Amino acid sequence: MRVDVAPVPPADTPRDRTCLVVDVLRATSVLAVLFGRGVRALYPVGSVEEARALREELAAEGAVLLCGEVGGLPPDGFDFGNSPGEFASLAALPAERAVVATSNGTPALLACAGAPLTLAAAPLNASAAVALALEAGRDVLVVCSGLRREPAEDDLLAAGLLVARFVELGAEPEAEAEQALERYRAAADDLAAGLRASEHGKSLVALGFDHDIDFCAEPDRYDVAGALGIEAGRPVLRPAYPRGGER
Ligand code: MLT
Repeated sequence: MRVDVAPVPPADTPRDRTCLVVDVLRATSVLAVLFGRGVRALYPVGSVEEARALREELAAEGAVLLCGEVGGLPPDGFDFGNSPGEFASLAALPAERAVVATSNGTPALLACAGAPLTLAAAPLNASAAVALALEAGRDVLVVCSGLRREPAEDDLLAAGLLVARFVELGAEPEAEAEQALERYRAAADDLAAGLRASEHGKSLVALGFDHDIDFCAEPDRYDVAGALGIEAGRPVLRPAYPRGGER
């Protein structure tokens, strides 16, 4: 099995590979926390307007949260922003479904919606995402969400961590994967410091989300990953557990 890395989301959906989409700061980290805390369905959308409209529509069927960010902060009328630390520290989540709109992470997921399997991955659920991809048996593309459609150091580091897991389990890294692996190995002793030094890490520190960076650097806190499907014409992530596990 081969593993490669796309430093930014590909223009064409990969049709023959499992995609692991990563936005370590912070969208796919948030998704790992939400599924880890028992959420049953997450609806990724590409804009704040779409998020508001979809929440309206879904609210007819029961409680649904509106979550996400613009410039790192929750837009007007959203229930929550995009802080994994905040979601992890809530005593309980007020609903089992959420619509999520973020600047780079949810668009990257949507760009991979046509792949045979697309998983939302982060260090927080690295082992689960890697195990699910190995179970699927196809070659893998780790898709970095990037920043404003450019490669972002934080995602390349997280991609390197995922590649390291695949390689430990026998996968063969291709050229971009080798580079991400090298980057990660140079930063692995203190991944949080590497994330903090990235452009996005610095902007999160300036916004007061320093604690999120340490949280996002922690590997394998959750044994679940969101798997992207289409239901009633809408992209939706459902929790997937490796080794046939269930909550
Ligand atoms: C994004 O999708 O660009 C990020 O998750 C932004 C953030 O850190 O909230």
